[in-house]
Amino acid sequence: MLEEIKQQLSLPQEIIQHIDQTREVRATYSKEDAELIGQSGYTAPHNDILYDTVVASSLNKNILLQGPTGSGKTKLAEWISHLYQKPMHMINCSVDLDAEAMLGYKTIEYKGDQAHVEFIPGPVVQAMRKGHLLYIDEINMARPETLPILNGILDYRRSLTNPFTTEVIKAKEGFQVIASINIGYIGTVPLNEALKNRFIMIDVPYLQGDHLRSLVTAQSGQKDAKLINILVQLSEDLIFQVKAGQLSEEAASIRALLDAADLSVYLPLGRAIQRAIIDKLEDEREKAIIQNLVETLIK
Ligand SMILES: Nc1ncnc2c1ncn2[C@@H]1O[C@H](COP(=O)(O)OP(=O)(O)OP(=O)(O)O)[C@@H](O)[C@H]1O
Ligand SMILES: [Mg+2]
Repeated sequence: MLEEIKQQLSLPQEIIQHIDQTREVRATYSKEDAELIGQSGYTAPHNDILYDTVVASSLNKNILLQGPTGSGKTKLAEWISHLYQKPMHMINCSVDLDAEAMLGYKTIEYKGDQAHVEFIPGPVVQAMRKGHLLYIDEINMARPETLPILNGILDYRRSLTNPFTTEVIKAKEGFQVIASINIGYIGTVPLNEALKNRFIMIDVPYLQGDHLRSLVTAQSGQKDAKLINILVQLSEDLIFQVKAGQLSEEAASIRALLDAADLSVYLPLGRAIQRAIIDKLEDEREKAIIQNLVETLIK
């Protein structure tokens, strides 16, 4: 993969050097850590996304991937983890996310009869101590009062006072944060400016056209070119309707499209689309719009 990427992106020499150096560290990882290294399967709609993400990573910037649901944000973060061969620790944000879920928790351990308190490190502390990648998924879904904990690790200080142990944790070299934000997702709050300020923004749009065709062919069980073409066309129509404000964002998710492709190996295409895309929507009017699109395409 590495040679291909170097050629495809024409990366500057010092960036290539940095990637090579980071990859050398891999030999030192434990089995558990090595298992946290991501897969390479991200397809970019254009090279700028990859080039800019790689440059920002090598400059050790925090990256905020923003795009609609199922556009490949998590895949892109995994791709970076794969390129640098760096383990990736994950936090999934929700209103339930608290300091313990990010930093870790205290527990009582027994050595014979002796009880002692031990701190079990969470994803943030592990990634910082080991100089790994931290992926914060849907950072805008977290409660605003939870996020200030992260401010210190995201700026030049790269450090954090663990409120559970009072230990000051300084990030090891190599520590990097990639976060994602779902734009237009119901229930999200706009990201606080102080936090946003600490990131480089990368837009991750839905794949379309030939790129999408290759992705569906590679990632789904469906290999019939005619059916895949219909799905690719449907995706384009769905994105158009989302942009026109006629459909909710998730209707155009590539994840749902891949589900439809998988089902369509065994089900008639119309029913596959029904199960994977249409029936997830609440609004009858939206369902009818897609139903119409499908009927036009399948005829
Ligand atoms: N550009 C892409 N390259 C590779 N896979 C993709 C791409 N876009 C979508 N996919 C596929 O679609 C699915 C969703 O991708 P992923 O989980 O990365 O999306 P996401 O943007 O993180 O979504 P969410 O916001 O819901 O977490 C995966 O199965 C992935 O394989
Ligand atoms: Mg994701």
